[in-house]
Amino acid sequence: NGQTPQEKTLDSSLALLKDGYDFIFKRRREMDSDIFQTRLLGQKAICIGGKEAAELFYDTSKFQRSGAIPKRIQKSLFGVNAIQTLDGEAHRHRKMMFMSLMSRERLDVFIELLAEEWEAAILRWEELEEVELFGESTELLYRAACRWAGVPIDEETVRAKAEDMSAMVEAFGAIGPRHAAGRSARRRTEEWLEGYIMDLRAGEFKVFEETAAYAMAFHRDLKDRELDARMAAIELINILRPIVAIGYYVVFNAMALHQYPEYKEKLAADEGKYRQWFVQETRRYYPFTPFLGASVIHDFTWKGHEFEKGTMVLLDIYGTTHDPKLWDEADKFKPERFEHWDSGPFDLIPQGGGGYDGHRCAGEWLTIDAMRVALEYLANRIEYEVPEQDLDLSLSRMPALPESHFVMKNVRRKPGVG
Ligand code: HEM
Repeated sequence: NGQTPQEKTLDSSLALLKDGYDFIFKRRREMDSDIFQTRLLGQKAICIGGKEAAELFYDTSKFQRSGAIPKRIQKSLFGVNAIQTLDGEAHRHRKMMFMSLMSRERLDVFIELLAEEWEAAILRWEELEEVELFGESTELLYRAACRWAGVPIDEETVRAKAEDMSAMVEAFGAIGPRHAAGRSARRRTEEWLEGYIMDLRAGEFKVFEETAAYAMAFHRDLKDRELDARMAAIELINILRPIVAIGYYVVFNAMALHQYPEYKEKLAADEGKYRQWFVQETRRYYPFTPFLGASVIHDFTWKGHEFEKGTMVLLDIYGTTHDPKLWDEADKFKPERFEHWDSGPFDLIPQGGGGYDGHRCAGEWLTIDAMRVALEYLANRIEYEVPEQDLDLSLSRMPALPESHFVMKNVRRKPGVG
């Protein structure tokens, strides 16, 4: 492949762990190219980034997900053979079921449940000297997620179950104990929810038809068969786990408010505009998904670069959301950039690109809603101090999270706010 810049390496897997979110982006800058070839996990890989690359990556006539997602990611983050790995009609059919859970009415129900959980949490926090925002927000998100999805909450185990959800996310960019913890969290959670799906099918529990638990338990595939109970549990986790993962974004919202306090006034003065821009900028600016992988279906050429059948292709998510060709002063946190933003499906892609009939995140709207609720509480409804702590975000830790998990002191309700 003469035209494509190649990284001179036997294998870059270790460099990937070291450079983390910056792995592809750094090499794109060094080679001054939105495409380069390297070797990862013992095989050839083509890395691409930027808006045109994103558009290419979502062309389902050229790329498939089957065979592209490493087993170690499936056994920790996603679940084996779940929606993320499906292609074609099987994917479209499963995705329609996921998207049917995301109607405006159902999202509004989620917002209400989530606000109730924030209220209850604040009552608890007012009694505490210190609150660790990451752990607390994952628990309150988990509670709202279960209530919304039709999954029972057991007060005895609620914290442990919420922690299992984040352990699966914590595992994705790790080797060693953090990865192992994610795998065992997944095993436990799958077993528990598989039993729950069977109970639902046996009529031992009743849930509303519009819940995710009902949808997963009674969904029928293209051959008009129910999902295997384990698979139904895995897909139910594909609702609960990412809702809990919004806890990372809650921490990033809090970090941004702390680092750019000038926005507090703007957020208080204005009803919705700034809040929306601030949330979008948090999703753009802070690292979450590093890259996505797909596999080439058949040989083709793009801008003079040859893509061979079976090659693994990685789309640079972090680098695309920081690409100076797309974002003015890309390294700055600047919510106002969204005031005159000409949005397209391939630029603001922290949760994937393209349309929702493709692999783009099923929960993107819910994420934005949940972040708006969080920001409203953090900026307008409570007061707190932020004690000295290590808030550095290392790009080599995937997923990114500050060491301190964001500690707040003396949390209290703002005077005069309901
Ligand atoms: C897919 C990110 C929240 C459900 C994805 C993808 C990304 C992503 C990058 C892959 C897109 C692709 O493969 O092209 C995030 C981030 C979130 C988040 C950063 C914030 C915490 C959510 C929520 C839900 C959700 C709240 C559900 C309530 C899904 C599902 C898929 C997905 C089901 C698979 C879609 C498919 O393969 O068709 N997400 N997500 N996500 N997400 Fe999210």
